[in-house]
This record gives sequence, structure tokens and C-alpha cells, in this order.
Amino acid sequence: MRRKAIITGVGHYAPEKVLSNKDLERMVDTNDEWIVSRTGIRERRILEEGKGSSYMGYQALKMILEEKDIDPEEIDLIIVATVTPDTMFPSTACRIQHMIGASNAWGFDLNGACTGYIYALATGAQFIESGAHKKVAVIGADKMSAIVDYTDRSTCVLFGDAAGAVLLEPSEEADYGILDWILHCDGSGGEYLHMLGGGSLYPASHETVDKKMHYIYQDGRTVFKFAVTKMADVSAEIVEKNNLTGNEIKFFIPHQANLRIIDAAARRMGLDDSQVVVNIDRYGNTTAATIPLALSEVYHDQKLQRGDYIVMAAFGAGFTWGSLLLRWAI
Ligand code: COA
Repeated sequence: MRRKAIITGVGHYAPEKVLSNKDLERMVDTNDEWIVSRTGIRERRILEEGKGSSYMGYQALKMILEEKDIDPEEIDLIIVATVTPDTMFPSTACRIQHMIGASNAWGFDLNGACTGYIYALATGAQFIESGAHKKVAVIGADKMSAIVDYTDRSTCVLFGDAAGAVLLEPSEEADYGILDWILHCDGSGGEYLHMLGGGSLYPASHETVDKKMHYIYQDGRTVFKFAVTKMADVSAEIVEKNNLTGNEIKFFIPHQANLRIIDAAARRMGLDDSQVVVNIDRYGNTTAATIPLALSEVYHDQKLQRGDYIVMAAFGAGFTWGSLLLRWAI
């Protein structure tokens, strides 16, 4: 019988330092009312200097291992979804492997931007389903404050820092765990949301620094237009494809980029507010971390029961977008 990948542990980490809308009012020409009404964001967390995404990913994974009393040496594979790796290389996965003491694991980073966590969960599940591995850690970690221009009001209000993680393990029950996913990318959208500097095309130079090419650039209006349709389409599609209805979904856990995009997807799926997990007000857009962070909060609030259907969905730079259906198994 085909094995399924089930989530057996969930963890997260958010830095203590809070950057509120009021704080931002003192930094750029913006105001709390504009930010809340356009995005739903009230505050976000900022990681201190001298620490990178690996620190937050490590903390999220440590939470799982401590709660489940698992020896790090049991981990086979560490996948880290991130657009803010500590360094170009070595990978953030290698750093976390070393920090946590996962001496039998291999690992790699994966860049699917804001859809990165769904890409990573679908990837991690393959190593479980194939029988290759028994314990796969899937981490989403982003220190967005490292690539945000805090003089650009159109982007600096949107992003924050955090990490989340799950542990995937095999189950013989065919109807539980990661049941299905739909993933897309369309590189023609690259011009609307990117960070150009620091890679092989535009290596770091005085010019790339002067032109602010090491910061996020976003054409918000165009990205919004694509995100609002693509995320709603792919969320509704995975529910229909699996012969489910909105009523049967316990929680919709969307990428937290903008409350209006989340609401549009939830409406398309016919969900009411109690089914939609929203924490964008407290964390903003933490890129690859939004979905596991939200899942971990729901899990630790003891709102999940065995048998619950969960739909995740995201849209991000690339463009990338996708959805994933899972059935809670523990
Ligand atoms: N405070 C006050 N005014 C601001 C502002 C801020 N922080 N940022 C932009 N504005 C202004 C603009 O300058 C513009 O003024 P103008 O009309 O005089 O030119 C006005 O507000 C409207 O800007 P616009 O960009 O059209 O706003 P919007 O309603 O599209 O909201 C976003 C902007 C970024 C919130 C929205 O476009 C968005 O969420 N985009 C998608 C983000 C996303 O999903 N990213 C994908 C995944 S990472």
C-alpha cells in the first residue's frame, strides 16, 4: 500500500521585537489607518542584527523536537523554504542541520518565494511516500527585514520576520496526511516582484547598492491583481478536485500577504470567517513562514482534531502559486 506523509509535529518562532504601524509612521509617510485598511497588518516582528533566517528556523524545529522528545539524530532530511538565506552558500538547511545536531540528515534550501512553503511540503512528502525517509523536517524561515528598504513606504509596511516548521512522518492510512497539491509558476511575472542584486546576474557592486537592487521591488497593484485571482482559483480548484465542499474544510490556512486577498479566496471557497486562519495583523507577510506559523498557532491553541481537512494556499514572486490539501492525522 502507498504510504502517506503525515504531520506529526509543528513549531514556530517569532522574534520578540515588535514594529508597529505607529513606529512606521515615524519612519515613512504612512499611517495606521492606511496600512490596516489596505493590508490588515497592525504590527510585525523584527529579528535582531547578527542573526539570520537559520536562527529562527532552528528555533522552530527545536520546538518540535522538544515537544515530541525526538533526538535530532533521527532526522533524515531538512528542507528550508526561504528567500532570505543566511548566505548564498552554504545553505540555511546546512546551518540548521549543524545547529540542531542532526548528524544523520542531509538538506537543501528551496526558493518558491511566498509559495515556498507549499512547494517544500509537497517536496518533503515525496521522500516519505517513496519510502526513502522516515523523518523529514520542512521549515519556512524568512528575515524579510534584511531585504526591506525602510525608506520605501509601499513595501516596508508589508513584511516581517518569522519561521515555522513541521515534521513529516509516514503513515499507512491512505486517507490521512498530505492528500493533494496543485503547484504553478509563471516566470513572465518576474518583473513585478523581485530583488535583483546579489545573484550571478547582478553581483554586488557599488552600483547595485546605489540603485537599491538589494531590496525588494514590488509593483503592488499588478501583484495584487494576479494574487487575488490565482490564489482564489487554486484554492477552490483543490477542494472541487477532491470532491469536497467548503463546509467540509475545517481550516483554510492562506499565505498572509494581504487580508483582502485572503478574503477573496475564502469567499470563492464559500467559507465563513471561523474557517479562515488569519494572523497577518500580528506578523505581516513573513514570506515562506506565514503558513507554518499560522498552522503552529492553530495547533498549539488545540483547535485541530484528527480527521480535519485543511487547505493551504499561496501566491508569490515568480510568479508562483499553489494549494495543498491535507487531513490531520494525530
Ligand atoms: N502609506 C500611505 N500611502 C501609501 C503607502 C503607505 N504605506 N503605500 C502606498 N501608498 C499610496 C500610494 O503612493 C498611492 O498613492 P497615489 O494614489 O497618490 O499614487 C496609493 O497609496 C495607492 O497605492 P496602491 O499601490 O494602488 O495601493 P493598493 O491599494 O494596491 O495597496 C498594497 C498596496 C501593496 C497593499 C497592495 O497592492 C498589495 O497588497 N499588493 C499585493 C501584495 C502581495 O500579495 N504580494 C505577493 C506576495 S509577497
